[in-house]
Parts: sequence; structure tokens; C-alpha cells
Amino acid sequence: MFNTVTLIRKKRDGEALTPDEIQYLIREYTNDRLPDYQMSALMMASFLNGLDAEEAEAFTREMLHSGEVLDLGEIPGIKVDKHSTGGVGDKLSLILAPIVAAAGVPVPMISGRGLGHTGGTLDKLESIPGFQVDVSLDRYREILRRQQMVMVGQTEEIAPADKRLYALRDVTATVECIPLIAASIMSKKLAEGIDALVLDVKTGSGAFMTSLDDAKTLAHTLVQIGESFGKRTIAYITRMDEPLGRTIGNWLEVEESIDCLRGDGPEDVMEISHLLAGTMIFLGGKAASVEEGMAVSQEMIQSGRAFEKWVDLVQEQGGDIGVIREPARMGQAPYAREVLAQESGFVASVDGYSLGMASLELGAGRMAKEDRIDMLAGIRIHKKVGDAVEKGEPLFTLYTSGAERKLAADATNHTLPARPSDRQGAAASASTRKEMETDRQRAEEYEQRAEEYFQKAEAWIGRGVNIGSARPERKTSVFMRVDAEGESEF
Ligand code: URA
Repeated sequence: MFNTVTLIRKKRDGEALTPDEIQYLIREYTNDRLPDYQMSALMMASFLNGLDAEEAEAFTREMLHSGEVLDLGEIPGIKVDKHSTGGVGDKLSLILAPIVAAAGVPVPMISGRGLGHTGGTLDKLESIPGFQVDVSLDRYREILRRQQMVMVGQTEEIAPADKRLYALRDVTATVECIPLIAASIMSKKLAEGIDALVLDVKTGSGAFMTSLDDAKTLAHTLVQIGESFGKRTIAYITRMDEPLGRTIGNWLEVEESIDCLRGDGPEDVMEISHLLAGTMIFLGGKAASVEEGMAVSQEMIQSGRAFEKWVDLVQEQGGDIGVIREPARMGQAPYAREVLAQESGFVASVDGYSLGMASLELGAGRMAKEDRIDMLAGIRIHKKVGDAVEKGEPLFTLYTSGAERKLAADATNHTLPARPSDRQGAAASASTRKEMETDRQRAEEYEQRAEEYFQKAEAWIGRGVNIGSARPERKTSVFMRVDAEGESEF
């Protein structure tokens, strides 16, 4: 039996904890026998003094085994998933999963919600009317067996210790500890029942790892943990300065991912999509090399098989395939505003963090945990870094429903309150006049809020976009690959 205070002191004084000690601490915490204040002290000591590879592995193991670890052995094939550390406009999961599943590699994907200025796959999926992300583990297996892919949210049974620890770290300024981030990510991924994993570690102003050195350390830690659990793990460090692609915001990104699956995706998105999908197809045993996997990935798009796989999955999970086949049927947010170039020249930089914050202001993400998301809110990007622009040309279009963050259920449910014009043809009975008056007041409230959101978003964009006189050099979008053999530059 260990003494908790002695173990906290040991970590505080810079010593490494043994796997048995970490097992004791996580088990006691998960079983409510160790209070938050002691775990907070341990997290801070770990943040300040770091954790070595053995400690990171032990944290991962204990968090993983705090809940159910899925065995997908009865489903044929090498199961491969991908995880991204989060970026702005990062809709890659929506593109990769159908490509890889269409190529015959099962993709069991458990995703998260948006965090801070970055979006989350789960929120994007929920912008598809009817799409169910909360399913039982039995149904998770069934969907995977039937469709070769499944996209759901974390259940209570998956890594519950991580859920508690993450919430605690969030409020004790201990999130930014690389070994704890790695243990948190890997405990959830390993619980999914995967055989191999591809990681997209993002670095730059729009990512959580703003420095390349931190991204490298995280990539190595993630790969080391994956390999120590017997899972082939390959990480890529990719650029996240300007947002990925041409949209930010939940439905806007789903719409763009449909373009990508139909062979009409922006270059930056498709470059990374084919690299990551090709690597997943290679790890899944359906290609002899990453390059061959990339060719298979292209073929899945060109043949339309990836898009049809996506339609099947949306239908399987209860979503409206009408809007997938014909995205225009979703309509767009009722309020839109263009941001125009103030001068002529070339787009020199677009800061991912500022654009992510602007999108949040428009309602596309949460400011507080309980906020509702405006699924149609976001930003359409007309000019990317390197593009020529004339003064007065639109750089971006901003969209919002002007819905209240705490009560945005109407926006989330894709129905907006009737506006005065909707009722003008109705007979002007007393009750209709009253309804029209209520509608007018509501419409004014929405308009005022939309104006407020636009102003806040424009302030962020003003800080985040630079136009120069010379065309900037094209920067690499992938810095390096990290795997069991070490790192290699791109
Ligand atoms: N994402 C996670 O899943 N966990 C962390 O600790 C940080 C980011």
C-alpha cells in the first residue's frame, strides 16, 4: 500500500514514479478514494518536473484500463484510425475515413468535440441533420462490421480516468504537459480496438503546439507509446498556420469535405488527405508502401467509391443523405458579410488562431462548455496565402444565424424563427398581427446579435491577415514523419 502524500512529494522533488505507484494513484482517483486536490498537486508536479517515457506509458496503461478496452477481433481486417491534435478548418477525418474504408481497411473512429479555437469532428458530424454520434458499444461494432467504418463520440465506458483527469487539468493549468497530453490521447485511441494508428500532429499559430520542437516531442512520445502497446504508429508533423482549405465552421466544413470526396477539394486539404489516407491504407495492409496507398486513395476519390461510402455511413448513422447528395438543400446562415481587402497585393499570411477565434465569435464553437453551437456559422475563405488580391475584393465571407449562445437550439436544429416577411401573405387577423409583431421583435434581436458577432469576428480577422507587395514563397505543409525508426524530414 502506498501513501499518496509521499508519492506527490516524490514527484514534486523530481523523482520518477514507478508503474505500480502510478497504478495505485489512478485507481484510487477513479474509485473516488483520492480527492481532486491531491490529484491536482500531482498533475502540477508532473507538469513542472516532466514525466519520463516509462511514466507516460504507465499513465496511458492505467487510463486505458480504467474503462472498457474494445476487442474488435471478430471484425476481419487490420483496424486503423487517425488522430489529429487539432487545427482550424481541419475537416480531414470526414474525408479520410470514407477513403480508407472504401479501400477495404476498417476505420473505427471515436472523435471529440471542438476545443478552444479549434473545431471537433463530433460537432461537424452533428451538423448533418439526424446524424447519431451517441451509440452503444454493440452498435459501434455493428456499424463497423456493416460499413467498414464508424464515427462516434467517446462513451462513458472509454477511458473514464482520462475524462476526469482532463477536466481537472483544464481548470488547474496543467493541460500543456506533453507526456500527459500523449497519455490522454493514446489511452482513448488504444481503447477503440485499433491495430495501427496515424497521427497528424499540427504545429503553428492555429495549433495547440505552436513550436515545431514541442510538436516533435509530442510526436515522438505518441509514437513511443503506440509502439510500446504493440500498435504500428506513424506520426506526421503538419503545418497549421493558415486554416486548412476554404471553410471554417461545422456545416461549411462538411460541405467542403463533400467537395473533396467528389474530387473537387482544395489543394492543401487534398495533399494532406492523400498522405494520411495513403499511410492508413498502407498500415491496413492494402498497399505495399505509403506511395502506393496514396495512389489507392486517389483512385477511391476518382471512382466515386469514397463518396458512396460516405453516403452509406451517413445513412447507417441516421443522417439525412439528401443534404449529402445535394448540400445546397441545407441553405446557409441568414446573415452573411464580406470582408474586403483594404489594399492590393498578395496575401502574405492568414493567422489560424485569429480565424479560429473569429469563427468562434460567429457561433461556430463554444465559449463556455454548456454553449450551443450555431451549425451554419463560420467563414468561407476566398483568398489563400500566396493569392493575388485587388483592393475591394472579398477575402472572406462571414456567416452567422445571430442565435443566442445559451439558447441556440433553433440554430442547432436547423430551423430558424419565422421572420416578418414569412408571414406577410397571411390574412391580417388580430392574432396574425400579434405574431408578426413578435416575429419583428425577434428578428431585430437576431439582427442585433448578428451585427455584434460580425464586429467581434472582424476585429479578430483584422489582426490576423496581412497583405504584402510580393508573392510569399510557398511553404511546406508537412514537416516530417516520425515512426518507430525515428524521424525523417519531408
Ligand atoms: N487532447 C486530448 O485528448 N487530451 C489532452 O490532454 C489534450 C488534447
